Amino acid sequence: MTIFRGSRCDVAYSVPKLANYSAEALEKASSELLAALEKEGAAVANESDWKSFRDRWMARKNGVLTQINDIWLKAAPKDAKREVGQRVNELKKRVEGSVNKAESVYKTSSSATEKSLSSDRLDITLPGIRRPLGAEHPIIKTMNEIVSVFRNLGYSVEEGPEIETDYYNFEALNFPPNHPARDTQDTLFIAGQESKPLRERLLLRTHTSPVQIRSMEKMKPPLRVVCPGKVHRNDAPDATHSPIFHQIEGLAVDTNITICDLKGTLDHAMKALFGSSVKTRFYPSFFPFTEPSADVQISCIFCGGKGYRDGGRCPNCKGGGWIELLGCGMVDPNVYAFVDYDSKKVSGFAFGMGVERIAILKYGVDDIQLFFQGDVRFLEQFG
Ligand code: PHE
Repeated sequence: MTIFRGSRCDVAYSVPKLANYSAEALEKASSELLAALEKEGAAVANESDWKSFRDRWMARKNGVLTQINDIWLKAAPKDAKREVGQRVNELKKRVEGSVNKAESVYKTSSSATEKSLSSDRLDITLPGIRRPLGAEHPIIKTMNEIVSVFRNLGYSVEEGPEIETDYYNFEALNFPPNHPARDTQDTLFIAGQESKPLRERLLLRTHTSPVQIRSMEKMKPPLRVVCPGKVHRNDAPDATHSPIFHQIEGLAVDTNITICDLKGTLDHAMKALFGSSVKTRFYPSFFPFTEPSADVQISCIFCGGKGYRDGGRCPNCKGGGWIELLGCGMVDPNVYAFVDYDSKKVSGFAFGMGVERIAILKYGVDDIQLFFQGDVRFLEQFG
């Protein structure tokens, strides 16, 4: 038997005339029709198959059901009409049932194919997508560590602008105009400001010390602040210099603060950062805004302060046993005059340290440029 596939070329089942209206003849004709129905229904695979199938069997005009109605029932003699009518009704139900079934079968099987296709797109043998965890930048990490040492001593954190005026960066810190101390800081000035008074001219701050002034303008004593931030100097980049680097400033002002407080505080901070066996040494120095001033040195953490290791001169301290780390001093009374503090009543100390320098020592980094190049192979080691 030819299977109907919705194509007009196939030789399809067609409704025969009934030779007679005997029970056998009806039975035979019905079962041929049902066999055709089943075959054609089973061949439905998609929506367009199904529509042709439905129309062929159920279309009012010339569908198989209409045909059996015309050819079998209407043509039946009176006495056979009842019997034929029942048959035709029965066949009608079977046809409707088959058409409905064919519809649900093609629908579920096509959505199953879709599902299996979409799951084929997931190749579970491919390696997964790695999402590496970020790491804190070693400079930020070191900054946070230093800040937390001082927070534990009761200091709060203050910040100031990176583009600063000459007044805050120099004048209020007791660097008078044209004073040679200004030359020690290779300043990057913003161009084209010659028409402004000197103190209003903008520059990239060369240190975090202007935040001392801004903090004292904002707050009355007693005061204990640390000020982390980025600073700039006109230095050519090499293994130990960078035009951008970071500092942490410290300032404590109260009644009766002495140089003993300064020494005790910094000695504690260095031990907290580099280990309790580290010693500190205060070496006379000069800054316009502190008097007296000192450079703080720590005993070399690589040779334990001996000056030699591995049978030779220690390359880190160059044999001296000490490493210079930060500047400090007692706040110069001239500075208090700029912020309306009474230098007869209060005293205080200040210090400033380079974050890169501390990170280089702590982590054994040999080139300051590594901090600014953004090479993940370097940075991920701090995760
Ligand atoms: N601002 C100084 C510098 O950058 C460091 C410093 C800060 C010194 C505070 C004394 C007190 O060199």
